[in-house]
Amino acid sequence: MRYACEPSVVIKPFGQTKDGQRVQQYTLTGAGGVVMDVIDYGGKVVRLFTPDRNGVKADVTLGFNDVAGYEIHDPYFGSLIGRYGNRIANGKFVLDGKTYVLPVNNEPGGKPCSLHGGTKGFDAYVWNGEPLSDGKSVGVQFKMRSPDGDQGYPGNLDVIVRYWLTPENVWRIEYEAVTDKATPVNLTQHVYFNFKGEAEGAILDHELTISADRMTPGNVGLITVGKRIPVKGTPFDFTVPWQIGARIEADDEQLRFGGGYDHNWVLNNQDGRLAPAAALYEKSTGRFMEVWTTEPGLQFYCGNFLTDKVPGKRGKNLAYRGGLALETQHYPDSPNQPDFPSAILRPGAVYKSVTEYRFSVK
Ligand code: GLA
Repeated sequence: MRYACEPSVVIKPFGQTKDGQRVQQYTLTGAGGVVMDVIDYGGKVVRLFTPDRNGVKADVTLGFNDVAGYEIHDPYFGSLIGRYGNRIANGKFVLDGKTYVLPVNNEPGGKPCSLHGGTKGFDAYVWNGEPLSDGKSVGVQFKMRSPDGDQGYPGNLDVIVRYWLTPENVWRIEYEAVTDKATPVNLTQHVYFNFKGEAEGAILDHELTISADRMTPGNVGLITVGKRIPVKGTPFDFTVPWQIGARIEADDEQLRFGGGYDHNWVLNNQDGRLAPAAALYEKSTGRFMEVWTTEPGLQFYCGNFLTDKVPGKRGKNLAYRGGLALETQHYPDSPNQPDFPSAILRPGAVYKSVTEYRFSVK
């Protein structure tokens, strides 16, 4: 088989963090033509080039040209998220009879929570990077140890994350972790997509499908109330493709709480197989993507906290709702919700999770 491109990984310096840690960039060129720039600081995807239906490539993800951009603005652009993706109510949970206290770093609607791992989550670590290749696919492996007590979480957690780019234009993410004390773990990727291109306006015209008949409603603080409710007949029904903007202004309490979509869907597949979770389509460019995951949940966030004050990578400012995230995950606040699938990793067990973003055109 002949490939569109010679697959390669090219490593070069990206700069340094404000505390002087050096940051490396890995440019992955997939045999199918997708190219991504990834940095070991937070495992962030800085740029992601995919072809449109005429074969013209554009950068379809939000990010910054330098480390300072990421340190100043904090929307988790392109980042690996851990130890616990999403919110933990009041920054507290009880595990095996002991109460653990986490940093409170977010307070939507006046309700405090610990978001995305705390004040220094995995998105702010410089990981240990290594290039990967199996002859067909190329990638990068990131490793690190989150020490016992890190951000209040118990146990030394050893984490490995691999990004692969396959000849079929699949970005595959493999997460693994082991611990020496029981701890919550919920790893995800917070990449923001805009299929018209970065800083090319809002994503309200993208069409989204989510393979989920139910979602977990939140309160005014976007904290789950522990329920799973049907989406049928609501603006949360994406079981067939819907334009994101079509119902976003509907008179709906959940949309008001989120300032738009910022919720967790209960995926129909709950058995840990790699299965379809979502699809995204932008008709002017033809860009299409399927999301597959082994996870039971998906947070769809449509950039309601983004503003037009932040410059993107090409000198143009980003837009309100200028990117959307599809974060595969266990449900928000699972450590405090006994009825939700458990997000607790125990010593001797291996946390494993796989997500694929499959790029193509229609
Ligand atoms: C997640 C949350 C949002 C927001 C973003 C980061 O997606 O659900 O509410 O905090 O992260 O800005």
